[in-house]
Amino acid sequence: MTTTLVTGGTGTLGRHVSERLRTGAQEVRVLSRHSRPYAVDLRRGGGALNTAVTGVDTIVHCASTPRGGDEAAAKNLVAAARRAGVGHVVYISIVGVDQVPFGYYRTKFAVERLIEESGLGWTVLRTTQFHDLVLTLLQALGKSPVMLLPARVKDQPIAVTEVADRLAELARGGPAGRVADMGGPEVRTLESLARSYLEATGRRRAVVKVPLRGAAYRAFRAGGHLAPEHAVGKGTFEEFLAARAEHVRAGK
Ligand SMILES: NC(=O)c1ccc[n+]([C@@H]2O[C@H](COP(=O)([O-])OP(=O)(O)OC[C@H]3O[C@@H](n4cnc5c(N)ncnc54)[C@H](OP(=O)(O)O)[C@@H]3O)[C@@H](O)[C@H]2O)c1
Repeated sequence: MTTTLVTGGTGTLGRHVSERLRTGAQEVRVLSRHSRPYAVDLRRGGGALNTAVTGVDTIVHCASTPRGGDEAAAKNLVAAARRAGVGHVVYISIVGVDQVPFGYYRTKFAVERLIEESGLGWTVLRTTQFHDLVLTLLQALGKSPVMLLPARVKDQPIAVTEVADRLAELARGGPAGRVADMGGPEVRTLESLARSYLEATGRRRAVVKVPLRGAAYRAFRAGGHLAPEHAVGKGTFEEFLAARAEHVRAGK
């Protein structure tokens, strides 16, 4: 019996990863700020974190927030993992964290390096955006009668369930270092994704493309966050919308 700790195991990705790992002969612990008995704020660490990692073979690190603190969280996690003799840390990152000078991406890149230099066995998987994130973005932009989209930006969304399959596979294996990126099946303009969303929801909105300023926007426009050479995902954005039709139409 091996023991795996999934940080952020209640999140969009983490809950699918936890489910998959539970099907094997494994103890799976789920850690998040609100998930008992392993309710831990990783930014603070402390005794509860030490308890959560004790006896753990593999950590799948999915906990994250764009609101800040991921580096402090990773430092605490790595220190606790080293003390507990954890053999393998699997980290989920984003395609382009080293290309796009966007605050959250810089933090993810710094966390990658922390894990790679930790002395622990490690695996890092970068993927493109999940369909869920694109939907959340479009739902927010669709609240106004005119949908303003950053001009000339593309995306390559991927099904979170496929990312979870791969992360669970990596967690069951040994440390593999930086593995091949995973991208969604199609590189699409934001406009085309927005039109699919509007069609699925039956909403009518004017779509206006707005050029933005700044280095991060230029890097997104140049496709630094895309992985067309690794378009291994199968599920399309339309299939994702259709599978969640009720939720999508309700705009929740
Ligand atoms: N979304 C995407 O498109 C995408 C693409 C590529 C990679 N990723 C990466 O995949 C990972 C998971 O993303 P997601 O979309 O599944 O995120 P999510 O749904 O926001 O889930 C985040 C999880 O982290 C936990 N968490 C947040 N701050 C924490 C803290 N300080 N201490 C302990 N737990 C904390 C949350 O639970 P509590 O609130 O209970 O703490 C939750 O379980 C992230 O590393 C993200 O960068 C995401």
